[in-house]
Amino acid sequence: MARTLFAWPSCAVVQTRAVLTERLEIRLPIEADRHRFVVLFQDPAFMEFSAGVHDPSSANTRFDTMLETAERVPFAKQPIIERSSGEIVGYSGAAWCEFDDAARLEFGYRLVPAARGKGYATEAGRAVLGVADDSYRGELLAMIDPQNGASQGVIGKLGFEFWKIGEIDDGYRVEVYRRTCG
Ligand SMILES: CC(C)(COP(=O)(O)OP(=O)(O)OC[C@H]1O[C@@H](n2cnc3c(N)ncnc32)[C@H](O)[C@@H]1OP(=O)(O)O)[C@@H](O)C(=O)NCCC(=O)NCCS
Repeated sequence: MARTLFAWPSCAVVQTRAVLTERLEIRLPIEADRHRFVVLFQDPAFMEFSAGVHDPSSANTRFDTMLETAERVPFAKQPIIERSSGEIVGYSGAAWCEFDDAARLEFGYRLVPAARGKGYATEAGRAVLGVADDSYRGELLAMIDPQNGASQGVIGKLGFEFWKIGEIDDGYRVEVYRRTCG
């Protein structure tokens, strides 16, 4: 099926300041983060509940998209850095997607297994959504596998509400949630 090409709109002048929470630093991605993310995007444990792992080429392309999105979207997918270790333990933020034939901003998050179960996804998500509320008026979507109980818990704590069942990636059924920013 032919895919529509969208000219992704920009949201705001991007602020590059890091956000510090009690345990985390969240800041927009930089080129120096590439190696860490290219490794993570090829790791089946990190990529649980996704369309699958990347190879080195598609992992680099995915990181390129993170950098490009961050040039225009202050709440783009960004590294979650554990302050106690200085390690990048995942990401949180939005990326452009096509849904129902329209360009939409989709919010997502992902942690390495060792960083799960500590409340990090909620802590990071609240910080990034604070930036979104300050810089963007509009809707964010989130798409979650119906089997992904951990993510359903996070999205509720972040103030998203269930909207409907949707289909992405050639028939993959997901729960679609939405939240209004601003
Ligand atoms: C989904 C995912 C991001 C959740 O991350 P997480 O940090 O474990 O999620 P939460 O923020 O909800 O924290 C989980 C639990 O940690 C516990 N926790 C432990 N210490 C805590 C603390 N100091 N503060 C807050 N919660 C803490 C809480 O019990 C919390 O659950 P609860 O609030 O429902 O009781 C993670 O499981 C993951 O990366 N999964 C694979 C990828 C994935 O599925 N991504 C989403 C695709 S849609």
